[in-house]
Amino acid sequence: MDVYNNDYDVIIVGSGLAGLYTALNISRNKKILVVSKDQIETSNSSLAQGGIAGELSPCDESYQKHIEDTLLAGSHLNDIDALKVLVYESSKNLDKLIKYGVNFDRDERGNIMLTKEGGHTERRILHAGGDATGKELVNSLSNLILKRENIDVIENSMAVELIVEDNTCFGAVILDQENIVSVYSDYTVLATGGIGEIYKNTTNPPIATGDGIAMAYDKGADINNMEFIQFHPTAFFSSEKGPKFLISEAVRGEGAYLLNVEGKRFMHKYHHLKELAPRDIVSQSIYREMYDTWSDHVYLDTRHMDERFLKNRFPTIYKKCAKHSVDMKRDLIPVAPVQHFSIGGISVDLHGKTTIKNLYANGECCDSGVHGANRLASNSLLECVVFGRRIAKDITNETVEHKKGELIKQVAEKCHFNYRKIREEIKDTMDRYVGIVRTDKGLKLAQDIVDDIYYDLKKDPRKTSEYYEVFNMSTIAKLVIDSAVRRKESIGCHFRVN
Ligand code: SIN
Repeated sequence: MDVYNNDYDVIIVGSGLAGLYTALNISRNKKILVVSKDQIETSNSSLAQGGIAGELSPCDESYQKHIEDTLLAGSHLNDIDALKVLVYESSKNLDKLIKYGVNFDRDERGNIMLTKEGGHTERRILHAGGDATGKELVNSLSNLILKRENIDVIENSMAVELIVEDNTCFGAVILDQENIVSVYSDYTVLATGGIGEIYKNTTNPPIATGDGIAMAYDKGADINNMEFIQFHPTAFFSSEKGPKFLISEAVRGEGAYLLNVEGKRFMHKYHHLKELAPRDIVSQSIYREMYDTWSDHVYLDTRHMDERFLKNRFPTIYKKCAKHSVDMKRDLIPVAPVQHFSIGGISVDLHGKTTIKNLYANGECCDSGVHGANRLASNSLLECVVFGRRIAKDITNETVEHKKGELIKQVAEKCHFNYRKIREEIKDTMDRYVGIVRTDKGLKLAQDIVDDIYYDLKKDPRKTSEYYEVFNMSTIAKLVIDSAVRRKESIGCHFRVN
């Protein structure tokens, strides 16, 4: 299919929950192009296990508690107006997901089941397929997208540059397997997800190279709070290459314990909520225990939990553990913290607008301010839908028509230079110096290494997808390190020992 016709009102870059939900909520009168870097079903969203937080039935008290839990988790660095939007608009967006056909788990009476995760004082997290919430969300919404006549989807294609003049965005340059094409549109929405690929140990898929943030930064958009990198406390500990498999916080939410390698519970030493403390505290506590016991992992203990419950509630995790010869009923699960989520990103207002005109951002690539210094579990999927709907409304209600530029299509460069060594150098540097615990000396060392890479790559003439990915990775690494150097105090998931 040749989707390049320059007739698009909106380009949405990214096909995770943020991109798909935004596309579905924009008026059907607008012609939309969704650009997916891989297959439509490959994204951070589709890997999400635990669930989506929110209030099913509007109630002042439960709204207030959700706000308080998010503020406590975020060390009160949250933008309170954005947080109120997130929580107050949760019910109507959860209803909409149900109308879109998302099959949340229900009990035998047909009521939606709710779970808890770290930092939540109430059961307010909806889940699907037991521990496959993201997969259910992405599958349901992408089925609808593929049926919509006003939406074209192009897979295995990467937006590599934004078309910006006088601080106004007019579309994006897209690189597919064969061509590099400038596609003009009235509005562009960045929903490119995470940045995990800049770390060696991450739960993110390899496509998470922070493309949206890097492209927006390159054109002068405000980028904020990049030092706040969230480490998930419990990724399955193994020497397997590639993304680390998550053991959802919902497992602790349903009663699992953390043990150090000496077989002792330890979370009571660090927080009154023990295993259900906010994620930054749990990851930092595990780091401390690993340090004190000279170990590279701790354990999650589910042996006291009902076997049938474990199998039904966590089918994906149960199978994955079994594949590694770990029986959740009988064995301890080895786990360690790994990079999971980028809290900062492209600065947006309450309608998802960036500081560049007609450019919006949604989901993990944006910084709406809702998460503060540490994200409360399962608020990220909620952010995608609440702000996605706001962006969609804004775009639907505006009528600005730009003069479109000429569609420029060129044959993409062929070059097999794969930049593997540079990728590895960035990943090693980030894991080593910009992890859970940071020092001024380590950050400055990392700054020197990454600055060299970034400025060298800027001069590189090879404009291939491998080039753009590694250049974007170096941009993101630079942004994270520069912000981490600037913030002298420890707060949330930015933890400095000096
Ligand atoms: C999890 O299931 O533990 C991850 C949920 C999240 O990142 O919010």
